[in-house]
Amino acid sequence: MSKISDIKEKIKFIADPITKISFLEGDSIKHVGIDDENNTVMFVIEVSEKTPDVMKELTREIAKVVKIEMGFSGIKIDFVEKKSDKKGPRTILIASGKGGVGKSTVTANLAYALMRMGKRVAIIDADVYGANMPKILGATEHQLLGNQDGKIYPFERDGIQMVSTEYLVEKNRALLLRGPMLNKVLKLFFEDTLWVGEIDYFLVDLPPGTGDIMLDMRTFNKDAKMVLVTTPQENASHIAIKAGYAAKDLGHDIIGVVENMSYYEVNGDKHYIFGQGGGKEVADELMVEVLAELPIVPGKSSIYKETDVPGMLYLNLARKLIKLV
Ligand SMILES: Nc1ncnc2c1ncn2[C@@H]1O[C@H](COP(=O)(O)OP(=O)(O)OP(=O)(O)O)[C@@H](O)[C@H]1O
Ligand SMILES: [Mg+2]
Repeated sequence: MSKISDIKEKIKFIADPITKISFLEGDSIKHVGIDDENNTVMFVIEVSEKTPDVMKELTREIAKVVKIEMGFSGIKIDFVEKKSDKKGPRTILIASGKGGVGKSTVTANLAYALMRMGKRVAIIDADVYGANMPKILGATEHQLLGNQDGKIYPFERDGIQMVSTEYLVEKNRALLLRGPMLNKVLKLFFEDTLWVGEIDYFLVDLPPGTGDIMLDMRTFNKDAKMVLVTTPQENASHIAIKAGYAAKDLGHDIIGVVENMSYYEVNGDKHYIFGQGGGKEVADELMVEVLAELPIVPGKSSIYKETDVPGMLYLNLARKLIKLV
């Protein structure tokens, strides 16, 4: 082994003091060179934050290996800060295999959870066949307004902004679109909507399955992350796995699975009415995590209070997603 690869090998488990991500995992060793004349090793190391503490600690760790263990006389480290790709709004696509598994419910409650955590949220209801975000948010009477430049204004409730395909059609009609028309609708939502202020998270409620829309979504937002919603039933998970693979083939980045209607809780006892393990099966197959197992919630209201158990579970889900996207 060359001296350089030997050095790289010996320091690869040193971790960034802030993120705790090792050099190996973070691909943080950008360069290693040896100045034979001075018996000194030169490094370029990428760090999450270039603070004096971080630099001091890493210098000490690297020196321990390179000077004490390997016998070099000196080290010289150039620290470079990892360019944050975390600026600007993040987009989360809510998808499923089967219909009716709770995508829209999850989208709406996730929006509320993020809002309750102080994030600025917008929902794009892109379900061209069965848009029902207006119903969930109690905004069916809303009229879509536009300006002369062809830009549209979103609906707003509780600080959450929303546009829906439902606003593009006559009442009680479904929007049936393919190809270029679909592309126009998505353009309207993604490029021609006058969102008020900065948005931290766009949540996109997709139609079930894998249609043209999943393909088109890539042209509007390449960095969007996808969450797959399923129920515990085998027939649902089976189709969710298929949809997951199809989405992956289109280049979508799936970050986790939400199992909805997982159980029904009575006096603290969980009853697994629809069986168990569907969410995990999908997650294992697609090599991601089950991010939440959400209970069956009786009642009319689709938006859960933050003080109720489902509301709290959604706060947890939001916390996980913030970390992941
Ligand atoms: N956890 C839950 N407990 C009880 N009812 C739920 C739950 N999640 C969703 N529902 C209900 O199930 C129905 C379908 O939910 P929702 O509309 O969110 O699913 P969807 O996946 O968006 O459906 P579609 O494929 O038609 O868009 C709705 O009536 C909703 O209120
Ligand atoms: Mg829906």
